[in-house]
Amino acid sequence: QRVLPDGVAERIATAGRVVVFTGAGISAESGVPTFRDALTGLWSRFDAYELATPEAFEADPALVWGWYEWRRAAVRKAEPNAGHVAAAALQALVPGTVVVTQNVDDLHERAGSKDPVHLHGSLFAPRCVAGHPFDAPSGDDDVPDDLGPVPPPRCTACGALVRPGVVWFGEALPRAAFTAAVEAASSCDVLLSIGTSGVVYPAAELPVVATRSGATVIQVNPDETPLDDICDVNLRGTAARLLPALYAEVKEVTAGG
Ligand code: APR
Repeated sequence: QRVLPDGVAERIATAGRVVVFTGAGISAESGVPTFRDALTGLWSRFDAYELATPEAFEADPALVWGWYEWRRAAVRKAEPNAGHVAAAALQALVPGTVVVTQNVDDLHERAGSKDPVHLHGSLFAPRCVAGHPFDAPSGDDDVPDDLGPVPPPRCTACGALVRPGVVWFGEALPRAAFTAAVEAASSCDVLLSIGTSGVVYPAAELPVVATRSGATVIQVNPDETPLDDICDVNLRGTAARLLPALYAEVKEVTAGG
């Protein structure tokens, strides 16, 4: 049976601007360890706040770099799931759709999404501490599961330490990405909030910005979140099941769909 209430598929199909806002939940079914799940095995004795801060990197660059290399290798072994694929298909079907993600994996890109906005950076965009981009060696992915500390590479341009290209606790979001995301959320007709617990700010502000701008906010999440109270449509379930169904309904009502 249909997943969208009457009229919502048409609203998406005719939208001038759609924001697909995603969190760790959309990658869960690809087997990508979420931020907190990634503290297993060797890393289980650490707390995320001990590994994902500038201070942690300063104190022990090899430990932090090793953890991110291990997480990057885990992402490379994963595949985009039907949720990522449906998000990319929706972006192709409805011009003016932008994907904004809190995830640092590259599964949206690998599913075919164009130019996803990474609010928290990416495991695949390391840079040196002076800000120079560093070409992550795409090389061998068979990083052992018990990978331990690995000394980070040095910047080829200035010799400074290379760091993961993700936003750490205590750091500001990349200005260009956050500005683009707020601009999209404040000018969109529909915002889909997929697989985010909606508790990490400022990213969690985006659905509020959208609803204040008169957009229709649709949530996809198997669990309750603070967004339950403000979304117009609350689809209780997984992204891999609900996004393809949502896409099919939008395609059905699209001219020549
Ligand atoms: N489909 C959709 N949603 C899912 C699925 C699924 N298959 N599985 C889990 N979820 C939901 C959970 O119910 C939860 O609400 O995804 C959400 C994941 O929440 P978090 O793990 O807090 O991830 P996220 O909201 O992206 O966290 C934001 O905090 O962990 C830091 O910087 C990190 O970007 C991350 C930020």
